[in-house]
Amino acid sequence: MPHRLGILLSGRGSNFLAIADAIATGKLANAEIAVVLSNLANAPGLAAARERGLPAVAIEAAGRKRAEHDAEIVAALCQYGVDLVCLAGYMRLLSPGFVQAFPQRILNIHPSLLPAFPGLHAQQQAFDYGVTVAGCTVHFVDEQLDHGAIILQRAVTVAKDDTAETLAARILVEEHQAYPEAIERVLSDKYRLYGRRYLSK
Ligand code: GRF
Repeated sequence: MPHRLGILLSGRGSNFLAIADAIATGKLANAEIAVVLSNLANAPGLAAARERGLPAVAIEAAGRKRAEHDAEIVAALCQYGVDLVCLAGYMRLLSPGFVQAFPQRILNIHPSLLPAFPGLHAQQQAFDYGVTVAGCTVHFVDEQLDHGAIILQRAVTVAKDDTAETLAARILVEEHQAYPEAIERVLSDKYRLYGRRYLSK
């Protein structure tokens, strides 16, 4: 039985599409997308999911308590039989109840080499800081922002003529490689955590 992924997104969904493509081409085996969920009904990523014939559900957060909204998301994930949750541009912090419902089963992608530059506009932060190497990180989600154990990272060299935008575009290319590879690693059962280090068994 393939593992069932639940994708959470708030925006354009290019990482979701990279995961879907990796599944479709067989690069990411033994997985299927069970549902795409969003806190925003007009997220372009939801429309993209519908175009691909995938279940796409909006659970609006506006005006609701975080724990209550998250409980509804968790219920939907369970209803669709999800066993791995992938945050892909999901612009909300998860409540402790959500994190505890899927122990070591929630992943996130962040466009910096964590722990540098957590939070919003990470690529701009890195560019403004003057780093010469930037990149992206796929990590487990815990209750702190962009903080859980790292699954894998990919680096990007900053060029002399880069702008924050051109750098972000090159990081995004790496994100699209990194996320399916990280999912494969987690599903393979060949890796485990040694403290915060995620290494082959
Ligand atoms: C990506 O840069 C990802 O690293 C960050 O949010 C952005 C989402 O982009 N968490 P997309 O919606 O997957 O295109």
